[in-house]
Amino acid sequence: MQTKPDPAAPALLDVRNLKVHFSLRGSFLQRMLGHDTGSVKAVDGVTFTLQRGEVLGLVGESGSGKTTLSRAVLSLVKVTGGSIALNGQTISGLSERQFRPLRKRLQLIFQDPHASLNPAMPILDAVGHPLRIHHIAKSDDEVRRLVCESLERVGLVPVERFLRKYPSDLSGGQKQRAVLARAIILGPELVIADEPVSMLDMSVRAKVLELMGDLKRDLGLTYLYVTHDLATARYFCDRIAIMYLGRIIEIGSAAEIYTNPRHPYTKALLEAIPEPDPSHHVPHDLPRGEVPDAAVPPLGCSFHPRCPRAFSPCGWESRDLRLMLDERWATLTPDEYLRERAIVGNLMALDSPSTEAHIPAAKGHAATELTALLAELRKSTPEDPFWRGVVSVEPQANGVTVRFHDHVTPELQPVVDVVDPVEVACHLYRRTS
Ligand SMILES: Nc1ncnc2c1ncn2[C@@H]1O[C@H](COP(=O)(O)OP(=O)(O)OP(=O)(O)O)[C@@H](O)[C@H]1O
Ligand code: SF4
Ligand SMILES: [Mg+2]
Repeated sequence: MQTKPDPAAPALLDVRNLKVHFSLRGSFLQRMLGHDTGSVKAVDGVTFTLQRGEVLGLVGESGSGKTTLSRAVLSLVKVTGGSIALNGQTISGLSERQFRPLRKRLQLIFQDPHASLNPAMPILDAVGHPLRIHHIAKSDDEVRRLVCESLERVGLVPVERFLRKYPSDLSGGQKQRAVLARAIILGPELVIADEPVSMLDMSVRAKVLELMGDLKRDLGLTYLYVTHDLATARYFCDRIAIMYLGRIIEIGSAAEIYTNPRHPYTKALLEAIPEPDPSHHVPHDLPRGEVPDAAVPPLGCSFHPRCPRAFSPCGWESRDLRLMLDERWATLTPDEYLRERAIVGNLMALDSPSTEAHIPAAKGHAATELTALLAELRKSTPEDPFWRGVVSVEPQANGVTVRFHDHVTPELQPVVDVVDPVEVACHLYRRTS
């Protein structure tokens, strides 16, 4: 299904350093006192281009910012920074009135075809709705003719059978075909498909993707294809961008990403794809922990708390120390836990990110007991990447100070010496020049 778009042609979509931050409301008191209540950095500095006729997959776990990025392209959320250009024309920061004419050229398909269709509207009206909103068709006959053409294209035939049906009369696959018919009726240039097949039965997923591929070829469409699912992305996309916590951490041709993944997160995602044959199924888990909270992302590389290859500059900090202690204590017997916990004071300060973490000793306990505890911890987990980030553990009058290496946030950089261009944001691939 992959095609070869012309890399020399100007990009259909050019997204540069895009940021979408959502302010957190905080408590009433915090707002009254004018305190900064923080923000969720849903998209935090994303740059990519999409060539005409290309399919770019946006892949990542839940919360990585895929939908927010898609909504930003369609001006459905306010952009905090950066720019979006369509065919060289800046389209970010436009008012709704300025953006309205562009809506014909950009279409969105959601995950849930049922929710996308008004249950009270027959298919004729639902699919013809954009023609009326944009005042394209001059008569009911023209609407009917264009709807019939569109239904035929998506395989809802014989069309007469579908025109008067309601969404509830259609199967999931037929509903998504109707949504596609509505999306293409205005002749869009770019279709953003946000998990378009994930709610469909396995048996119809491939058929709907095949239809999307046919539409792309016949109508010259370009797709931004959002998915959790690297298995379908491989089949459908020319290029893949892997997102993690609001950033693209690897981008390249689908072939290169699958045969030679570089970023440790991409590798973990690929290993987590289940075997097609369940008898060969090996349970692969993503590295420890969940995707962190985008309101308080880890320092440095956001993937570092889960990364098996993480090393000194990756962003080690106080919260990693807290996690380390909590993980240890979860493995101890209650008596062992109580004995250890009794010598450690209040750990709340570790929750504020810092490259210098202070652990207070509990009342009546000496700093040396804490140093001994950390030494024991290190002895029991010498291979844990956390220790690569520790510069020093020093006893103080009232506790222990743990200092971490300075961190650097990895930026996307081209990988050299590869035929297909690939960019990776990881210190393992940092160029030293
Ligand atoms: N309107 C909003 N207000 C506040 N936070 C939001 C809003 N929309 C999204 N977020 C937050 O932004 C982050 C990215 O969310 P987004 O829905 O873009 O992720 P996603 O990759 O599409 O996830 P999923 O795979 O679950 O659909 C999440 O932390 C989410 O909670
Ligand atoms: S920069 Fe690379 S090695 Fe370091 S934590 Fe991130 S992914 Fe792992
Ligand atoms: Mg989403």
